[in-house]
Amino acid sequence: MKAVVLVGGEGTRLRPLTETVPKPLLPIVNRPLLHRVLDHLAEHGVNEVIASSPYLEESFATFIAERHGDPRITWITEREPLGTGGAIVNALPRLDGTFLVLNGDILTDLDLAAMLEFHHRQSAVATISLHRVEDARPFGLVVSETDGRVLEFREKPVELVPGDINAGTYVLEPRAIDGWKPDRTISIEREIFPSLIEGGAPVYSHLSDAYWLDLGTPQKYLQAHFDILEGKVAGIRCPAPFRAETATVDLEARLGRWVVIGEHAVVDAGAEIEDSVVLDAASVGAGARVVESILGPGAVVEPNATVIGSVLAEGARVKAGAEVEGARISPGQSAGGVRPSGGLSAETH
Ligand code: GTP
Repeated sequence: MKAVVLVGGEGTRLRPLTETVPKPLLPIVNRPLLHRVLDHLAEHGVNEVIASSPYLEESFATFIAERHGDPRITWITEREPLGTGGAIVNALPRLDGTFLVLNGDILTDLDLAAMLEFHHRQSAVATISLHRVEDARPFGLVVSETDGRVLEFREKPVELVPGDINAGTYVLEPRAIDGWKPDRTISIEREIFPSLIEGGAPVYSHLSDAYWLDLGTPQKYLQAHFDILEGKVAGIRCPAPFRAETATVDLEARLGRWVVIGEHAVVDAGAEIEDSVVLDAASVGAGARVVESILGPGAVVEPNATVIGSVLAEGARVKAGAEVEGARISPGQSAGGVRPSGGLSAETH
C-alpha cells in the first residue's frame, strides 16, 4: 500500500519557527512530526510514501537519510508549489492502486484500516476523513448524507456552529485524479473534490472520533504537546513534564507539568518554565521565566529574562533581564535591547 504525504507548505502561520524548519519536521515531544506520521502509516501496512516539497527541500533530504525502516520514502522534486492537488497529481505515475493521502501537519491516531474498509465497502472513488468540531468558523464544512456520501464543500461559516470538517486524510483511487494535468497548481479541497462531486462520482466521508489536531498555529503546536503529555493520543506515552535524555535541567529549576525540554537543551538554576516547549539545544538562563512559549532550536533566553506567549525561532535570543510578551523573534535575532526610553527593541546581529 502506498501513501502520498503532503509536506510542501510554507507553514506561514507558524512563522518564524518554520522559516528554518518545515512544519512537518518540527519535533512533537522530541520526535519530528513526520516520523510520527510515518510510524502511524507503517503500523497500517503502508510500505511506500511519496512526498515532495518546494520549500526547504534540503531539510527533508537530511530527514530521509536519517530515517530507517518502513515506509520507504520516494522523493519527487517539486520546483514550484503545486498545491495539495498538484503534488498528488505529480505522484500519479508512481501509484498503482488504492492509496492514502495525508496532510503532513496533522497529529492523529485515526484508524486507517477502518477508513480503507469503509472506502471499499462504499466502492468510493474518494473517501475523506472528517472530524467534528464545536466551532467550525476557522474551517470549511463538508456536508454528507447519512450514509456518508458527500454532497458539498461549504465555505467557512460566519457564525459559531458545530460541524464536520475535512480532517486531511483521504483514501483515493487513481482515477479520482485522472485528467488533471501535471506540473500545475491545484487544490484538492477546492478543485479536485468539488469537481468529482459535481460529476456525480462516489465521494464519501468517514467521520471518526479519533484524536485529531492540525498543527497550523503556535497555540495548536503547544496544544499537541499538552495533549500527548496528558495521554490523549493513542500509542504515544511519555512522562509530564518531559525532558530529553541529553537535556540538562538544574535541580533548582522549576518545570511545570506541561513542559517539554528537547535534546541538549539547558535550563539553569532558578529558571521557571510553564506550558512551554523548549526545542533542541535551546537554553534558559538562571532566574529566567518562560510561560506559554516555544523556544526554537538553539534559542537563548538569557538570565532573569521573562518570555510570555512568545515564539523564538532557531537561534533567536532574549537578552538578560528583558521582558517580552506576544513576541515573534526571527531566526538569529535578539530582543531586549534597552532603548534610551527604557522600552524594548528587537535588533539583528
Ligand atoms: P499555512 O501557510 O500556515 O497555511 O501552512 P501550510 O501551507 O504549510 O499548510 P496547509 O494547512 O495550508 O496545507 C495542508 C498540507 O498540505 C500541509 O501538510 C502542507 O505541508 C501541504 N501543502 C500545502 N501546500 C503545498 C504544496 O504546494 N505542495 C506540497 N507538496 N504540499 C503542500
